Amino acid sequence: MKLLVLNGPNLNLLGTREPAVYGSLTLAEVERLVREQAARHGANVDFRQSNHEGELVTWVQEARGKFDVILLNAGAYTHTSVALRDAIVAAGVPTIEIHLSNIHAREEFRHRSLLAPVCVGQISGFGANSYVLAVEAAVKVKVKS
Ligand code: DQA
Repeated sequence: MKLLVLNGPNLNLLGTREPAVYGSLTLAEVERLVREQAARHGANVDFRQSNHEGELVTWVQEARGKFDVILLNAGAYTHTSVALRDAIVAAGVPTIEIHLSNIHAREEFRHRSLLAPVCVGQISGFGANSYVLAVEAAVKVKVKS
């Protein structure tokens, strides 16, 4: 099984960015946790980060036929990006939405996700463990062929 893990804007700053909200692990450390969990299931991981909406859109588009599941922490684009939502639908690759923080317990503008309705599900509020739980969910997603 091939997993594409995409991280959106500002997630490159994990470790120093608002640690009370996002925890103290760096993105490289989160990547290591994801790889360890995926390896337990014999799954392959491609792990990427971009601050650019268009690049994330392109990566989602290109996942079609190459990856079984996308794990997506779109950061702030979760709340704004019709383009990412359309790309998820167009690609047709089952996508799991991830958030380190519980977006529903924060500011009102974070409560709405434009992506959630087109994702298999959302994992939010477990810190770096959200990613580990998403790997668990991904290996159980029924893959369309
Ligand atoms: C986030 C939540 C978003 O609201 C925020 O813009 C982020 C990170 C999270 O992982 O908790 O950048 O996606």
